[in-house]
Amino acid sequence: MDIRNEKLGLVIPCHVAIIMDGNGRWAKKRHMPRTYGHAAGASNVKSVVRIADDIGVQYLTIYAFSTENWKRSAEEVSALMTLLKKYLHDYIGECNENNVRCRIIGRREGLREDLLAEIVALEEATKTNTGLQFTIAINYGGRDEITRAVQQIATEVQEGKLGPDLITEETISRHLDTRDLPDPDLLIRTSGEERLSNYLPWQLAYTEFYFTDVFWPDFGREELIEAVKKYNQRERRFGGVKS
Ligand code: FPP
Repeated sequence: MDIRNEKLGLVIPCHVAIIMDGNGRWAKKRHMPRTYGHAAGASNVKSVVRIADDIGVQYLTIYAFSTENWKRSAEEVSALMTLLKKYLHDYIGECNENNVRCRIIGRREGLREDLLAEIVALEEATKTNTGLQFTIAINYGGRDEITRAVQQIATEVQEGKLGPDLITEETISRHLDTRDLPDPDLLIRTSGEERLSNYLPWQLAYTEFYFTDVFWPDFGREELIEAVKKYNQRERRFGGVKS
């Protein structure tokens, strides 16, 4: 449930999802390689987690690498994987200091062994933390997630554990990678693009969207508060009528 931050005079969305776009253009503006932008983006993730936690966000879910990002150059993919591995490794201490629980969603198959080991280590080391619930989508695609859920459900039907007429929306939600998370209340996408890019299509059905031209490495406290202010101006009806 959303909570009210009295100091800010704002209702804070319980679950914020972010598409961190614009690292490449941020680097280009500085005549630097794209990987420089990703490094700046990674360091900004740490800062945004702290800010989100500080203002009262309870769940934060970020898109770090999509199932489509494999189409980038081998050099860029490899740099991103190394960056992620290092980030997850270095992040355990900070998560535990701040009571942050970290989970990874997305397809595990196809990820490098060294990255997988860091994923397992970070999830395990932070699993009893009760503060901000922080989720990183790696090798994630919404259609891939739904396909994997359907495969599992079909197997359960085949094994006689589930009747087809007993499959509800709730059954599908329970088979998604996000089964332990509420649906996002606010989606933020940086860098001026206004599309979903296969990010949480099932979960974002009733989410409020906020787009900003700011590139991800420049997205900070002020920008997050601006997004929350816009969220406060929205009237969420979930398909109902105005009361
Ligand atoms: C989009 O920028 C960003 C990505 C595809 C990856 C996001 C990755 C990070 C922020 C760094 C690693 C993350 C963590 C959690 C350590 P883009 O490359 O598409 O930028 P462009 O649209 O300007 O080219």
